[in-house]
Amino acid sequence: MAPLLDLAAVILACAAGVSGEAWNSSLFTSSPDVFPSPQMSGIGGWEAAMAKANAFLANMTLQEKTIMLTGANGPCVGNISPIPRLGFKGLCLQDGPASVREATYVSVFPAGLTTAASWDRDLMKTRGIYMGQEFRDKGSHVYLGPVAGPLGRSALSGRNWEGFSPDPYLTGVAMEETITGVQSTGVQASAKHFVAYEQETMRNPPGTFEATTIPNSTEIQSISSNVEDRTLHELYLWPFANAVRAGVANVMCSYNRVNSTWASQNSKLLNGLLKTELGFQGYVVSDWMAVHTGVDTINAGLDMNMPGQWNWAPIDNTTSSWWGPNLTVSVNNGSVSASRIDDMVRRVLTPYFFLGQDQDFPTIDPSMGAYPMVDDFEAESYWLDSWTAAGVLGSANRDVRGNHSTLIRELGAAGTVLLKNTNGALPLKAPSSIGVFGNAAGDLTTGPYYHADSYEYGCLPIGGGSGSGRFSYLVAPLEAIKAQANKDGSAVTYILNNTQLAIDGGASTIYPVPEVCLVFLKTWAAEGTDRDTLHVDYDGDSVVEQVASYCNNTVVVSQSTGINVMPWASNPNVTAIVISHLSGNEIGNSLVDILYGVYNPSGKLPYSIAHNESDYSFAPVVTSVANTTDPNAWQSDFTERLLIDYRYFDYNNISVLYEFGFGLSYTTFDLANISISKLANSTIASLPAATNVTAPGGKAELWDALYSVTVSVSNTGSLAGATVPQLYVTLPATAGEGTPVQQLRGFDKISLEAGETKTVTFELMRRDLSVWDTLVQEWRIPSGDFGVKVGFSSRDAKVQGTFTI
Ligand SMILES: *[C@@H]1O[C@H](CO)[C@@H](O)[C@H](O)[C@H]1NC(C)=O
Ligand SMILES: *[C@@H]1O[C@H](CO)[C@@H](O)[C@H](O)[C@H]1NC(C)=O
Ligand SMILES: *[C@@H]1O[C@H](CO)[C@@H](O)[C@H](O)[C@H]1NC(C)=O
Ligand SMILES: *[C@@H]1O[C@H](CO)[C@@H](O)[C@H](O)[C@H]1NC(C)=O
Ligand SMILES: *[C@@H]1O[C@H](CO)[C@@H](O)[C@H](O)[C@H]1NC(C)=O
Ligand SMILES: *[C@@H]1O[C@H](CO)[C@@H](O)[C@H](O)[C@H]1NC(C)=O
Ligand SMILES: *[C@@H]1O[C@H](CO)[C@@H](O)[C@H](O)[C@H]1NC(C)=O
Ligand SMILES: *[C@@H]1O[C@H](CO)[C@@H](O)[C@H](O)[C@H]1NC(C)=O
Ligand SMILES: *[C@@H]1O[C@H](CO)[C@@H](O)[C@H](O)[C@H]1NC(C)=O
Ligand SMILES: *[C@@H]1O[C@H](CO)[C@@H](O)[C@H](O)[C@H]1NC(C)=O
Ligand SMILES: *[C@@H]1O[C@H](CO)[C@@H](O)[C@H](O)[C@H]1NC(C)=O
Ligand SMILES: *[C@@H]1O[C@H](CO)[C@@H](O)[C@H](O)[C@H]1NC(C)=O
Repeated sequence: MAPLLDLAAVILACAAGVSGEAWNSSLFTSSPDVFPSPQMSGIGGWEAAMAKANAFLANMTLQEKTIMLTGANGPCVGNISPIPRLGFKGLCLQDGPASVREATYVSVFPAGLTTAASWDRDLMKTRGIYMGQEFRDKGSHVYLGPVAGPLGRSALSGRNWEGFSPDPYLTGVAMEETITGVQSTGVQASAKHFVAYEQETMRNPPGTFEATTIPNSTEIQSISSNVEDRTLHELYLWPFANAVRAGVANVMCSYNRVNSTWASQNSKLLNGLLKTELGFQGYVVSDWMAVHTGVDTINAGLDMNMPGQWNWAPIDNTTSSWWGPNLTVSVNNGSVSASRIDDMVRRVLTPYFFLGQDQDFPTIDPSMGAYPMVDDFEAESYWLDSWTAAGVLGSANRDVRGNHSTLIRELGAAGTVLLKNTNGALPLKAPSSIGVFGNAAGDLTTGPYYHADSYEYGCLPIGGGSGSGRFSYLVAPLEAIKAQANKDGSAVTYILNNTQLAIDGGASTIYPVPEVCLVFLKTWAAEGTDRDTLHVDYDGDSVVEQVASYCNNTVVVSQSTGINVMPWASNPNVTAIVISHLSGNEIGNSLVDILYGVYNPSGKLPYSIAHNESDYSFAPVVTSVANTTDPNAWQSDFTERLLIDYRYFDYNNISVLYEFGFGLSYTTFDLANISISKLANSTIASLPAATNVTAPGGKAELWDALYSVTVSVSNTGSLAGATVPQLYVTLPATAGEGTPVQQLRGFDKISLEAGETKTVTFELMRRDLSVWDTLVQEWRIPSGDFGVKVGFSSRDAKVQGTFTI
């Protein structure tokens, strides 16, 4: 186990990375009030669905309205009860971002992180469509995903893998494609967790449902993410704007506080940024048990309380609710206005009608399980009585996997990144002998479902917590390698015990030295806990060094929930490095496709790999405030401002091991012929027109293409393959101190035959060229010279140009 981050180094690094005004803590003791909560208008294409919602609403009693807004017991992770009098069949909300979690006979798709590493818009969308189909076929109305919070401010955050990338542009695209895909099947997506939810540690008060070593007290408030306005807009809010623009049905608020105010009752965030500035038309749902008050959450803009019937008491079926019957009281005594509760119901019903969920939605498969996970759902059957009576439950254990394994295998390969490949190590060509090493090579040994616990033996196809999944089958790497070796006549020998391998000579009991030694590493993370190191688990670094000391053709394959340091990367005997992250239930097949060149690697890093763990300390996870009774002790100041991941390394000129956007192929590519053209005929105004109406996603003008950039990309090698030209924009100096040196503002995955050349066009939208002006409270295009670089990574400017606004 490597030492924890050194606090002194953290402070020094912060001081080095910070720019702009000194941090003033007294500015973060509350969020501004924004009242009243905006009424939805249906703008953006939901007008007809809203009319249906209004007609439905007109028939509802106050009690029925509260039922529709307050979660109840039922067959799913979150449940809105059926209302038989109105023919309303209820809502089934289900985790999670990579699978219909807990349910039987479902697929476990590659995690968000692997999906992001594909940089492939089409595959992102197809994954969304297939996941949406599985939710629908199980009778689940709401897919609880995709994830843009955490974004990935801290490399140690335990849920980064559920989301996509610390780059907001890449995450924004992935959010948009996923939502479009999921909702095309008539299933609602839930963009979560809103917002600045960048660590697990102290996300909730101790003594609630989190295991904690801190004295139990619900008085101690969860971590406060203290974020400046510009930082929030340009990093953490950015991908949520894409989600809203894509028409996301609901947004889930997060557990943490923002500027000392709970995200679930922060009127600046919900009424102000989400519903006014971004023009969000759907409903805001709480994260499970993130609600700490009644009226204050409602007036701040929260529309649905989940799971609704539980407050902070231990989970059972008897506890009371801040909402539910208490909401009826609040409306009757005037604390919540009638128009507010109607807007809440309208926001819940409009996406329901828009997506046709009132029409022919499949019955709910009771094998979905109830929260917390129950292995025997029969035990919960008394919960199901009202649902059975409403006729919304169907047959159990329906197989909804279809032919999705093909996509999972392809995306698993497309999202696998090849970082090093020397001496022609890869692809493998029927080697005479293969050595397989490490505890991450084999099959699972602790059952098919991961919740919170790491496990020693077995590969890592997904992380833990609510983003996990239940495996109906799994192709482990060793199994797939054996199958391929069998075809090729290769000998395969293996040692999976890391304790044995980490000691001197551990691998040498295999004789003779294999032609290639494959070392399988893994790094676990799960909701509820942050990682405490960036090193791989189970002494994997020593395993690599030991195997490499004996085998001069060592190929490292890393399954990981996020960023790892790689102290062995420059070892000449480590001839290749492959990272698959978390590639789902076809993991073995996806890896064999990459290792044997059936699939030419095309994945790119969605983050930076630095030389040292301490290089990431610009954004530490706060773990130092242990054993306090001060309710307000937990503060996380985002003092690094815009400078996270490559923005930090570039700004401070720090060399990295593998930069953001990097990834190799078995062929070679080149870029040439950049041309930049202005799309607008007239002078480009620095601000969008004040009169421009806010459509979902913000002012419509923000999405206008102002410049187009074309390049030609060629496959200069002798194999077909795909690559990702990436466009980075450098803003003029007038963008202000602390502006990142360059930022991703375009990418496209391009497949090319050997020798083929294609033209790629990127459109730069107004938002892509703007900074958030905190005084004007608007996106402003800074005046001056803009730099454009296009290359195959963030540090590979193959072609560049400029334009002036
Ligand atoms: C910090 O902010 C508070 C509140 O606006 C202000 O009164 C105080 O002068 C500021 N302190 C510094 C050092 O700027
Ligand atoms: C948080 O506080 C900062 C500093 O006062 C302010 O710029 C920002 O708008 C606040 N954001 C929210 C959501 O309260
Ligand atoms: C409202 O109730 C009336 C009377 O029961 C019924 O005719 C009408 O269809 C209902 N409207 C809606 C939208 O459910
Ligand atoms: C706090 O409460 C939780 C849940 O009841 C329990 O698991 C944990 O051990 C308690 N922690 C302490 C320090 O008492
Ligand atoms: C709570 O649920 C259990 C089943 O899990 C049931 O036996 C018990 O009667 C319920 N209690 C109440 C008060 O409804
Ligand atoms: C809600 O109302 C019930 C009585 O109807 C009450 O017992 C409960 O304490 C109230 N508040 C909360 C937070 O549940
Ligand atoms: C792994 O190897 C170590 C060291 O040789 C040994 O003590 C341990 O029992 C082995 N574990 C298993 C599960 O075989
Ligand atoms: C590389 O492998 C050879 C055996 O082929 C070994 O002698 C040498 O020490 C290894 N080097 C390293 C750095 O592990
Ligand atoms: C690598 O090791 C193999 C066998 O262990 C040996 O035959 C070969 O010469 C070594 N290659 C290098 C470059 O050391
Ligand atoms: C926490 O603080 C309490 C009260 O100050 C003290 O009794 C206890 O020993 C402390 N626990 C730890 C683990 O430091
Ligand atoms: C620019 O002018 C041309 C010719 O008048 C016109 O066709 C085109 O639509 C204009 N483009 C924009 C963005 O206004
Ligand atoms: C807002 O801007 C969009 C995009 O340029 C444009 O299509 C729309 O007409 C504008 N609306 C108003 C009211 O100005």
